[in-house]
Amino acid sequence: MFVRNILSAIIISVAPVSSVLAAGGDTPPIPSQDWSFSGPFGTYDKAALQRGYKIYREVCASCHSMKRVRFRNLEALGYNEDQIKAIAAEYSVEDGPNEDGDMFERAALPSDAFISPFPNDNAAKAANGGAFPPDLSLMTKARANGSNYVHALMTGYKDKLPHGVELSDGQYWNTYFTGNKIAMAPPLMDESISYEDGTIETLDQYAKDISHFLTWAADPYMEERKRTGFKVILFLLIFAGVMYGVKRRIWSNIH
Ligand code: HEC
Repeated sequence: MFVRNILSAIIISVAPVSSVLAAGGDTPPIPSQDWSFSGPFGTYDKAALQRGYKIYREVCASCHSMKRVRFRNLEALGYNEDQIKAIAAEYSVEDGPNEDGDMFERAALPSDAFISPFPNDNAAKAANGGAFPPDLSLMTKARANGSNYVHALMTGYKDKLPHGVELSDGQYWNTYFTGNKIAMAPPLMDESISYEDGTIETLDQYAKDISHFLTWAADPYMEERKRTGFKVILFLLIFAGVMYGVKRRIWSNIH
């Protein structure tokens, strides 16, 4: 009786796990990467941010908007004012109305937000077989373990499908996407983007750099916040020391 109870308890506790595995709908834990920005003193790596921005511009920007980032924010990547003006001027935006009441096109300015690839959400869906490419400005905050998740998503595509899985047109298999079937074709592959700074041109490196860039975009004041936190702790430590001294002095005559 006792043995049977134990056996059924084991079976009940293991059953849900095996049924999930059989359904093939589970995602494994997201592997952690080594980021320069982790930890209490972590900072962004400007070279990585510039490479990530290059990837966004050359690949992701044809489908994904980043409406919350302005060209002038690129100062944080180490670009100067003239470089930022030149980058912005490569894009055009609709402005107006002018005195005649007409809208007109002009070159983008540093104060403009990144230009969206589609005029509206429906156009974005229509161009992507009905799937909406989400805005990437806050993506690393919108997903749990965001920086590692974006890296995992970029590197998680599999050509060889698990047994019994079928994909419809425009679907791809990704190990880390919820439900595994994603409507985004693998955006990156080895040597698909050229780097001018001699960094290796591998999928893994691209995935790290785009994730670094998206992490900055979602949390541009991270370094400042950490510095302030450090100063506050330092102040509190010194203040505690002073207060301890004061206390000892005040109570020194009392026996
Ligand atoms: C050809 C269009 C296209 C390109 C290029 C593209 N994406 Fe996507 N992306 C999509 C679509 C469509 C979806 C929605 C997929 C879905 O819901 O199945 C998506 C979804 C995503 C998601 C959200 C996944 C989630 O958890 O919901 C992320 C993150 C993402 N893309 C990042 C990128 C990055 C980074 C790049 C550039 C390296 C990129 N994408 C390039 C079309 C694109």
